[in-house]
Amino acid sequence: MEFNNKIVIVTGGAQGIGKDHCRGIAFMKKSINIMTTPKRKEEVIMYKKLMTCLESVRKKIDFKPEVALILGSGLGDFADGIQIEQTIDYTDIEGFPVSTVKGHKGRFVFGYVEKTPVVIMQGRVHYYEGYAMSDVVLPTRLMGMLGAKKILLTNAAGGANPSYKPGDFMMITDHITTGVPSPLIGPNMDELGTRFPDMSEVYSRRLQDVIRKCAKECDIKLQEGVYVQFTGPNYETPAEVRLAQRWGGDAVGMSTACEAMAARHMGMEICGISCITNMAAGISQKELNHKEVQETADRVAKSFKELVTKVVVNM
Ligand code: HPA
Repeated sequence: MEFNNKIVIVTGGAQGIGKDHCRGIAFMKKSINIMTTPKRKEEVIMYKKLMTCLESVRKKIDFKPEVALILGSGLGDFADGIQIEQTIDYTDIEGFPVSTVKGHKGRFVFGYVEKTPVVIMQGRVHYYEGYAMSDVVLPTRLMGMLGAKKILLTNAAGGANPSYKPGDFMMITDHITTGVPSPLIGPNMDELGTRFPDMSEVYSRRLQDVIRKCAKECDIKLQEGVYVQFTGPNYETPAEVRLAQRWGGDAVGMSTACEAMAARHMGMEICGISCITNMAAGISQKELNHKEVQETADRVAKSFKELVTKVVVNM
């Protein structure tokens, strides 16, 4: 009974959702089920946390994004070039996991890329910062709950495919998350998605076609490959990179795939682009460092922005 009381507070909070936010309302209606169905404590806590964040954002802005966008290195200032309606610092959202990485700004930007209403994550939450995976993917889930049905994930990654070059862009066709815990571990939040979600097409074939077409129109060479997520924060060893290659991986990184899984669980349509900022450990004989990653990302930022803009408008 004590839980039921807590849930009443949650659903009460959710009433702040605007009338036209059908998805938000759907979640709210479903949350009412919690009152009648006994749930495990962790599930209730996580769902409550999500609803608290949603309510906190909804108190500040009534905006329904169509597309969610997570910015990786090199795209940090992408949001400055769009028609901004409002920004919300992560620190101003109750219960939101806050990034500690230097240079990661940490805010949601709401606005329009041409006519497309978007919510942009300027600065993501990484598993290596010490958060639980459920917190790492909380912002992705939140953007879905705010109404975004499509998501574009971007990142900086190391090239494991020897034919790649630093500065290349790789459209993510699939991913491997064997090295990190699934964000879906734990009691399933039935309000968001099914217990055993299908992952046979995480990266939408339709959106892959859109990215191919956009890259062609921008005259940008596009690699296509499989992204392998490791935990970080250390770069991989050469042996780990060889393992990734044998698994069928083309790029290695420390983010993205977990977000894609959470988004897929919620039924969002997903696509992703990696900026290959360096050759992965052991492929080039050079030592890896964050400076090189940043320098390459900055060098190709203009093309990356051009491509991402076109994709957002056409997805
Ligand atoms: N490994 C993991 N993450 C990365 C890399 C890398 O080589 N480059 C940029 N992000």
